[in-house]
Amino acid sequence: MELTYTGKTKDVYELPNGNYLLQFKDDVTGVDGVFDPGANTVGLTIEGAGRAGLKLTKYFFERLNEKGIPTHYIDADIAQATMTVKPAEVFGKGLEVICRYRAVGSFLRRYGLYAEEGQALDAFVEVTLKDDGRGDPPISEDALDMLGILSKEEYQILKDLTQQIAGIVKDELAKKGIELYDIKFEFGRTGENRQIVLIDEISGGNMRAYKDGEYVEPLELEKMFL
Ligand SMILES: Nc1ncnc2c1ncn2[C@@H]1O[C@H](COP(=O)(O)OP(=O)(O)OP(=O)(O)O)[C@@H](O)[C@H]1O
Ligand SMILES: [Mg+2]
Repeated sequence: MELTYTGKTKDVYELPNGNYLLQFKDDVTGVDGVFDPGANTVGLTIEGAGRAGLKLTKYFFERLNEKGIPTHYIDADIAQATMTVKPAEVFGKGLEVICRYRAVGSFLRRYGLYAEEGQALDAFVEVTLKDDGRGDPPISEDALDMLGILSKEEYQILKDLTQQIAGIVKDELAKKGIELYDIKFEFGRTGENRQIVLIDEISGGNMRAYKDGEYVEPLELEKMFL
């Protein structure tokens, strides 16, 4: 097994059969010990965070697979905190796709002149470049096409999948009285037909969820939801 990438919250290994093994770590993103799903630094380490993130990820990817939504998921081993996935090729050097139901986080920091905190948003989709050095800048559909990162046809597929998947997560959380404010996904191309599939994870670290108007911490989310 060969270590191919050391991420902030996961390590990526290549298995002898070509599949990837994602090792979930107890590191979470944030600043100065405070969790922030949008942050580009490891802010704190929480015992059990990796396993909690994997449990949620396993749950959601299995629901998505049941619904026929294409993902990289093969299986997960909770005890080992690992997930086996199909290898994917990301768009450009990697994109994040965000779906927003309420105005918080970077949306509010950017558009605060026009939006109020917590204002309802209609599954608003935006794409950012994975570029830590430049603070993950948002990028438009036209710029993605012009820079050869994503064609307009692919953008539409990505946007549709994002809204569909976010809707499923939102409905699942709602069953437990939890409201999804925003969520971040990654996509890539897999297989010979280069199908666009959901990759990476779906955990508390990738979303903002609230219960009775109060923010639910990632670890708490796992306990509350599962
Ligand atoms: N199926 C897959 N094929 C290829 N790469 C994948 C797949 N699933 C996830 N990845 C990548 O594996 C890495 C997981 O590591 P981790 O989430 O810790 O990254 P990270 O440090 O958060 O960096 P980033 O800010 O780039 O997400 C990410 O770069 C993600 O894009
Ligand atoms: Mg990541």
